[in-house]
Amino acid sequence: MRIAIAGGTGTVGRLVTREAERRGHDAVVLARSVGVDLVTGEGLAGALDGADAVIDTTSIGTLRAKDATVFFRAASGALLAAAAQAGVGHALLLSIVGIDRIPHGYYAGKLAQEEEYARSRVPVSLVRATQFHEFAGQVAAQARFGPVQLAPRARVQPIAADDVATHLVSLAEGEPQGRSRDIAGPREERLSEMVREWERHAGRRGPVWAIDLPSAQMRGMRRGLALPGPDALVLGPRFSDWLRRQ
Ligand SMILES: NC(=O)c1ccc[n+]([C@@H]2O[C@H](COP(=O)([O-])OP(=O)(O)OC[C@H]3O[C@@H](n4cnc5c(N)ncnc54)[C@H](OP(=O)(O)O)[C@@H]3O)[C@@H](O)[C@H]2O)c1
Repeated sequence: MRIAIAGGTGTVGRLVTREAERRGHDAVVLARSVGVDLVTGEGLAGALDGADAVIDTTSIGTLRAKDATVFFRAASGALLAAAAQAGVGHALLLSIVGIDRIPHGYYAGKLAQEEEYARSRVPVSLVRATQFHEFAGQVAAQARFGPVQLAPRARVQPIAADDVATHLVSLAEGEPQGRSRDIAGPREERLSEMVREWERHAGRRGPVWAIDLPSAQMRGMRRGLALPGPDALVLGPRFSDWLRRQ
């Protein structure tokens, strides 16, 4: 199959690209760094020619609802229009568990992106995943102030981005499902402990202070609103086993 990966240079997108290639598919990456900008449309014409499926793993680094919404509507809207034009038979979107329960700016953008897929002319599969194991490192980097390492308290059930990628390629090989089962890792974790383990694994020995951040995202996560439901498909290793292998 020819599979296009929008955001195929990102944290999960590059793993999707690698997995698609490992399975013998022809993987086509769409990202600004390879000359395709989904917001301006630059480089998009013809990029999806001959593609059987497109997997959308694009993202923007913002916490603001307006910026996230403008980005996801524009990028996914352009991608789906180009997919329809090229006769692509299956568009897959990776989304996030709990975005409809937590009033966080970035999640407002993801909800807008899901709406774009809900009204797509191309048949879709939409899968929501919990936070990646890699989320611990992203949070740690944002909460490090010189020698002071903060570790936000939150309830999460993280999954390895690798397992998300494998699942997305398997879905792309099958028929469009509409909303597909949510996916999550095997165990609920405390985000503050994940950050602590991440820091130790990186060789940093300083104190790590667990805190309650007042942001809407972290308040919602402390209440368990980012946890998967009982129907979620559980995939991959728990966080500490995954971290040991990094
Ligand atoms: N991180 C998590 O814990 C988590 C959990 C569940 C779901 N998700 C979802 O998974 C998806 C991927 O997340 P991620 O953390 O892997 O993202 P990421 O590492 O930030 O990667 C984003 C990708 O989007 C591309 N991109 C950005 N702007 C673009 C544009 N205008 N045109 C074309 N490509 C563009 C980037 O490439 P260029 O910069 O080269 O353009 C990059 O390849 C997101 O939708 C996110 O919501 C994330």
